[in-house]
This record gives sequence, C-alpha cells and structure tokens, in this order.
Amino acid sequence: MEYSLKMIKECAAFLHNKGIGKPLAGIVLGTGLGAFIHKIDIKITVPYNEIPNFPEATVEFHKGNLIYGLLNNVPVIAMQGRFHYYEGYTMQQVTFPVRVMKELGVQYLLLSNAAGGMNAAYKKGDLVLLTDHINEQPENPLRGLNDAAFGNRFVDMSSPYNKDLNNKILIAAKKLSIPVKEGIYVAVAGPNLETRAEYRHLRNMGADMVGMSTVPEVIVANHVGLPCAAISVITDECDPDNLQPVDIAEIIAVAGKADAKLSELFAEVIGGF
Ligand code: HPA
Repeated sequence: MEYSLKMIKECAAFLHNKGIGKPLAGIVLGTGLGAFIHKIDIKITVPYNEIPNFPEATVEFHKGNLIYGLLNNVPVIAMQGRFHYYEGYTMQQVTFPVRVMKELGVQYLLLSNAAGGMNAAYKKGDLVLLTDHINEQPENPLRGLNDAAFGNRFVDMSSPYNKDLNNKILIAAKKLSIPVKEGIYVAVAGPNLETRAEYRHLRNMGADMVGMSTVPEVIVANHVGLPCAAISVITDECDPDNLQPVDIAEIIAVAGKADAKLSELFAEVIGGF
C-alpha cells in the first residue's frame, strides 16, 4: 500500500503546523480552471513539493499548490492543480490529497475538470454537473490492502455524487443565471485524446463526456465518506462523424473562457455552507 494512516496524519500535522485550520470545503481544480483561487481570501499557500508524503511533482506539474483561506468566511482548502494517472502516478498517489483533506476535517469536496463533450447537445464552454460516472481507467485507487480505518473494502457506488450537493449546485446556478447541464462522465487513462471509434464506443456505453481525471478522487471520497460533487467544462465537441483535430492548448483556452462562471458557481455554493 502506498499510503497509510501514518503518512496521512504526518501530512495533516505538517499542514496544521503551517497554520492550516479546519477547512469546511475542499476544492480540486481541473486543467485550465484556476480562477477560483482568486475568490479566496488566501491565508496560506503551500507548494506540493514542500508537503511530506505528497507525490513528487513531475515537470508538467511544477505549479501545484495547496491553498488555504476564507471564502465568504467559510474556511476552504483548494488544490491548484491535481495529480493525473497519465503523468505516471499510481492511483494511490493521485488520490492521496483527498485522504489528507478528509483528515483535515473537510466536509464537502467539489471537483472540476475539462472534458470532451460526446452528447450532441453539449457545446464548447458548457458546464455539466456529473450525475454519475463510468470508470474506464485501468487501475483503481482502492486496489490493495484495505485498512478498515479508512472505509469499506467494497465501497457502495449507488450514489457517488451527493444528491444534496448537486441540488445546491443547481439552485445556485439558477440564482446566478448560469446554465448547467447534467450528464455522465467516463474516465479514461489518457494522455492521448480519443479516436473516432473510441468516442463512438464511449458514447454507446452511455457516457455524455470524457476526461482523464475525477473518478479516482470520487471513488476515494466515497471510500472515506466525504460527500462530493463535480462539474465538467466541455472543452471540445467529440462528434465521431465530424471530428475536428484538437490540441491541449485549445482545450486550456476553452476551459479558461468558462473558468469565471464555474468559479462564481463554486463560490456561491460554498458561501451557502
Ligand atoms: N478526451 C479526453 N479527455 C479530455 C477531452 C477529450 O476529448 N477533452 C478534454 N479532456
């Protein structure tokens, strides 16, 4: 096992010593989705590479920071950048920060990601609230010895996204007049984008959008009993019958354009906690 209660407690103790208190909400920000940080009255920024037992940063990942502060007086902890499986981390490493958040006392976890839209009704820049997911990644963060101190061996996934949180998000979206769709996310390993045949296959499986993250963190959040919700920003339209080439720079640019409304929405929801 590449994580243990001891490692998590060491990590939490280090963060407490840095002055991080008891955050109520944890936020994981997806690719190109960093604007939320500016909503926070930041008290403490800790680079990932200073945190004991955190995965070692890859070159791509040198900007990762854990950020603690207040949002409308609600203490929050945000991950500016997440660990992806395609970078070479194990699933235990990818999800380690979720376990640390739980240890710090986080009660709600909000995640965002950039995703390819396969549902024909989705357009670039749309926000889609996850109602469910399909795990097509080749590894599982719960594989290996199960320490009962964390949770069940066979985690129930009948309702992986917390219904109350999802309702809060939909109500906040309505209040702010931000359109939010709902859909099913499929997680793939990446890092390549999909072929036309793969998009067709994933769509036929019942997925509305596809991405390379979120599902491992959600599995672990369910393992430790941390209510979570997630929003995808649709960064490319994946119509297998009319597929246009897409590159990561474009994905990041589209995410950047939707970033403000996503941040507003998360801030509204957290302000109501
Ligand atoms: N596929 C997988 N991951 C993605 C995509 C996609 O089309 N767009 C953004 N992340």
